[in-house]
Amino acid sequence: MLAGKADELKPQKELKSLKIPRKFVFRNGDGFTAELHVNEIMHPDFGMYTWPCSVILSQYIIHNRRDFSGKRVLELGAGTGLSGLVALKCGAQAVTFTDRDSVALENVESSAKENCLEESSFTVKTLNWGVISPGLLRDFEGFDFILGADCFFDQTVFLKLIVTVAYLLVQNPSAVFITSYQVRSADWQIVDLLTHWKLKCEAIPLTDFGGDKESLGETDIIGTQQFQLLIISPA
Ligand SMILES: C[S@@+](CC[C@H](N)C(=O)[O-])C[C@H]1O[C@@H](n2cnc3c(N)ncnc32)[C@H](O)[C@@H]1O
Repeated sequence: MLAGKADELKPQKELKSLKIPRKFVFRNGDGFTAELHVNEIMHPDFGMYTWPCSVILSQYIIHNRRDFSGKRVLELGAGTGLSGLVALKCGAQAVTFTDRDSVALENVESSAKENCLEESSFTVKTLNWGVISPGLLRDFEGFDFILGADCFFDQTVFLKLIVTVAYLLVQNPSAVFITSYQVRSADWQIVDLLTHWKLKCEAIPLTDFGGDKESLGETDIIGTQQFQLLIISPA
């Protein structure tokens, strides 16, 4: 027993990641409730957190859930995948979760199973923004909605993301890109890039879908004024 305790105190050669379960409960005014379980990951080299933007995008999906019923959805930069999981809870026919990070994809796949979602309704695939390959054009078609929560998190990814979205919208002509954005710097602008890539952007007021609350999904959203919900489509 004592020897066991001493072993526990030895420095570990490899620090394992720690999965932290998190629960979100969205209650819409009309009596609709969606409860979601996701796993966040703590690791010294990488982390996986459910960002407030994904809660705001989830609220938009819940409010407009009839539009998502029976639809095929692609999520970019899924991370823990909250928004895509909510789309499935709202009756989406299928959600393809994508990220460049394979740990995120394994994690979102296990979260979808933990939420008892129909296994044939979700799939995970690597999609690295800015890499325009025949695979991008072949593997990602037939979608009605493209989602992205907090994908404009750093200016260095703006061009890669917008180029990818521009290609995906050509490949999926009836789709729009619905993205939630956190204003982290007044200098950040995406309008010129969107115009260059022949895209337009409509900002949906948070008040239109109940996204302006300080608590959403039973989690606190600090400073809702810094969030935007944008719908990007061909100009
Ligand atoms: C700020 S996190 C947002 C995660 C999640 N959507 C949320 O809101 O909780 C950004 C996500 O984009 C992914 N990402 C970053 N750069 C990427 C790239 N070049 N291609 C694809 N995914 C990328 C990251 O792995 C991460 O999951």
